[in-house]
Amino acid sequence: MEVLVPKLPSFKISSPICRCSINTHRSSFNGLRFRRLSSVCASIVNEEVAKPSSGTSLGHSTRPDFPILHQEVNGSKLVYLDNAATSQKPINVLKTLQHYYEAYNSNVHRGIHFLSAKATDEYELARKKVAAFVNASDSREIIFTRNATEAINLVSYSWGLSNLKPEDEIILTVAEHHSAIVPWQLVAQSVGAVLKFVDLSQDETPDIDKLKEMISRKTKLIVVHHVSNVLASVLPIEEIAHWAHDVGAKVLVDACQSVPHMVVDVQSLNVDFLVASSHKMCGPTGIGFLYGKSDILSTMPPFLGGGEMISDVYLDHSTYADPPSRFVNSFFH
Ligand SMILES: Cc1ncc(COP(=O)(O)O)c(C=O)c1O
Repeated sequence: MEVLVPKLPSFKISSPICRCSINTHRSSFNGLRFRRLSSVCASIVNEEVAKPSSGTSLGHSTRPDFPILHQEVNGSKLVYLDNAATSQKPINVLKTLQHYYEAYNSNVHRGIHFLSAKATDEYELARKKVAAFVNASDSREIIFTRNATEAINLVSYSWGLSNLKPEDEIILTVAEHHSAIVPWQLVAQSVGAVLKFVDLSQDETPDIDKLKEMISRKTKLIVVHHVSNVLASVLPIEEIAHWAHDVGAKVLVDACQSVPHMVVDVQSLNVDFLVASSHKMCGPTGIGFLYGKSDILSTMPPFLGGGEMISDVYLDHSTYADPPSRFVNSFFH
């Protein structure tokens, strides 16, 4: 039987080492076409280990914040390194969740009592915080979803189905997460659009020159990672957005692996859509977000109906043989 051996990236560091703090500032990335985040992480770790400000390493100083790490496995302290898959939760996140259930658990945007008003205020405050975190110009540009996968599906089914037609092209790289590929395969199949994949170059990062060459008037969307979960490549999003907009195409950025590690500024990147996920950035599992430019979001049809759309309920009574007005009044108000 033939055994397929996956080709693993070599992780050689070809770009200059970046000396930066854990909150890598945007300017540290200016001028770099693309690079591997591993080099950034390596420099962060080296700096922390070489010059610990408080006499301890970053790992030692943050470990107490994570209750899950306060256990032994097979007689040794638990060490967790799978943060790209999901991060562990610090005590403040756990306490905030517990406080919500103990103090004001109730329906958001769907109740008129004290608890519901409090939950709604906190929910909208969180939206403002996320907007500020990625520098969106308006908190209405942040849509909460279950995760990044749902955020991408929202764009593919809502924007994709109503904007793509046969022969339109969507450009992706082969290094995208399957959550950023499969929704576009499904939508492309249903509208007759074509997916074009950018391969890796010699250094095993997506070939950005090829990507640029592939862009044409047929291109309607470019779907790219900011930082890859498999290669750790960091793509030049600002440039890609510029090329896309030159031909009237949109850009969707999968920022799942960048938002937890570096400053992401949606306005300076000038992207149309950007998605990220809370569970990869020390937040709770079960929530992610889509950033979308407001002029694009306002043209998109709803992806899911119900939930918080209570004020948008519209019933055309003429479609009912026996108009259920009494139910309309009691159920929807
Ligand atoms: C780059 C990237 N995109 C998308 C996803 C999917 O994220 P979620 O679990 O929030 O749907 C992941 C998760 O591993 C990821 O690493």
